[in-house]
Amino acid sequence: MVKSEKILITGVAGFIGSNTCEKLLQEGSQIVGIDNINDYYDVKLKRNNLKMLKAYDNFEFHEVDIRNIDELSYLFEKYAISGVIHLAAQAGVRYSLKNPFLYQETNVGGTLNLLETVRRNKCTNFVFASSSSVYGNQGKVPFSENDSISCPISIYAATKQAGEALCYTYNHLFNININCLRFFTVYGPRGRPDMAPHIFTTKVLEKRIIKIYDNNPCKMKRDFTYISDIVEGICRAFKYQGGFQIFNLGYGSPIKTMDFLSLLEEITGKEAEIEYIGPQPGDVRITYADCSKARSLLKFKPKIGIKKGLEQYLKWYQSYFRHSEL
Ligand SMILES: NC(=O)c1ccc[n+]([C@@H]2O[C@H](COP(=O)([O-])OP(=O)(O)OC[C@H]3O[C@@H](n4cnc5c(N)ncnc54)[C@H](O)[C@@H]3O)[C@@H](O)[C@H]2O)c1
Repeated sequence: MVKSEKILITGVAGFIGSNTCEKLLQEGSQIVGIDNINDYYDVKLKRNNLKMLKAYDNFEFHEVDIRNIDELSYLFEKYAISGVIHLAAQAGVRYSLKNPFLYQETNVGGTLNLLETVRRNKCTNFVFASSSSVYGNQGKVPFSENDSISCPISIYAATKQAGEALCYTYNHLFNININCLRFFTVYGPRGRPDMAPHIFTTKVLEKRIIKIYDNNPCKMKRDFTYISDIVEGICRAFKYQGGFQIFNLGYGSPIKTMDFLSLLEEITGKEAEIEYIGPQPGDVRITYADCSKARSLLKFKPKIGIKKGLEQYLKWYQSYFRHSEL
C-alpha cells in the first residue's frame, strides 16, 4: 500500500509548534507531530495544546525525544515524510547558562539526529528554527542575514548557530532543501510562560513587582513579532525551494522595554510596579530584524503591530487562565 505523504513537525506541543500545526491542519495537510513534553515550563499548557490538535483527523502525535535517533528512524519507516519543520529545542537564554549540556544535546545533537534521519530516508525538505540571538551584541542594526554571527553571547545562541552550520553542511553534502529561520521575540496566544510578555502580563494583572534586567531600560529593545506572522513565514519557507537559505522573521520595529510596559498598562488599565536590577549575562541589548530578504523571496509581510498583538494576547491570556485549571 502506498503511504500518504506527511509533514513532520517537531516541538509540536510548544508555542510556535502548536500554532504552526493548527494552521497546516486547517489547510488539510497530513501532520505527524512529535514532542517529549518536558517540564521546562508547565506541561499543562503543552497538554492543552495537544488536546486541541488531536481533535483533527489529519493529526497524529508521538511522544518522541529528538535526542533518540532510533525513535526518529522508526517514524520515517512508519510514515512517508515529505518534509520536516524542526521547531523542537531547549529554548531560553538564561537557563542555558545553568544547564548547558541539555542545550548541546537537544539543539545540536537533536538537530543532527534529525538531519541524518532525513538524509538516510531521502527526504529533501527541512525547515530549521533558529533565533535572532545568533547576532549577539553586534553594533549594527537592523540585523541582516549577511551580518557575521561569529560572536554569540549565550550558550543557547551558540547552539542555534551550530544548528545552522549543520543545516548548511547537510544541504552542501546531500542537496537537502533547507531554510533556517531566525525568529525575533515571538509572542501571542499559547505564548511561552518564561518570556517577557507572559511574565509582565501576569505581574501587572496580579500587581506583583516586575524585575527589569537592565540598568538602562530605555536602551533595551526587542523586535516583538506576533505568532500568526511567524506561522505565515514558516509555512511560506516550507514551500520555498532555494537550496540553503537563512531568513530573518521579525516585525522590523523594535520597542523599548519601558514602552512595552506602558502599552501593557494602557491595555490592562493597571499600573506596573517595577524594580530595576542589573543586566543578565547572555541577554542581548537589542534585536531588530531587517526582513527585506524574506519580503522579497517569501513575500513575507508581517501584519500585526505591537498594540493589536498585545490586545489579542491579553484576550487569549484572560480567557485561557480563567478557564483552565492552571
Ligand atoms: N518563542 C520565541 O520567541 C523564539 C525566538 C527564537 C527562536 N525560537 C525557536 O523556535 C522554536 C520553538 O520555540 P517555542 O517558543 O515554541 O518554544 P517551546 O518551548 O514552547 O517549544 C519547543 C518544544 O520542543 C519540545 N522539546 C524540547 N526538547 C525536546 C526533545 N529533546 N525532544 C522532543 N521535543 C522537545 C518542548 O517540549 C516544547 O514543546 C525553538 O527552536 C526555539 O528555539 C523561538
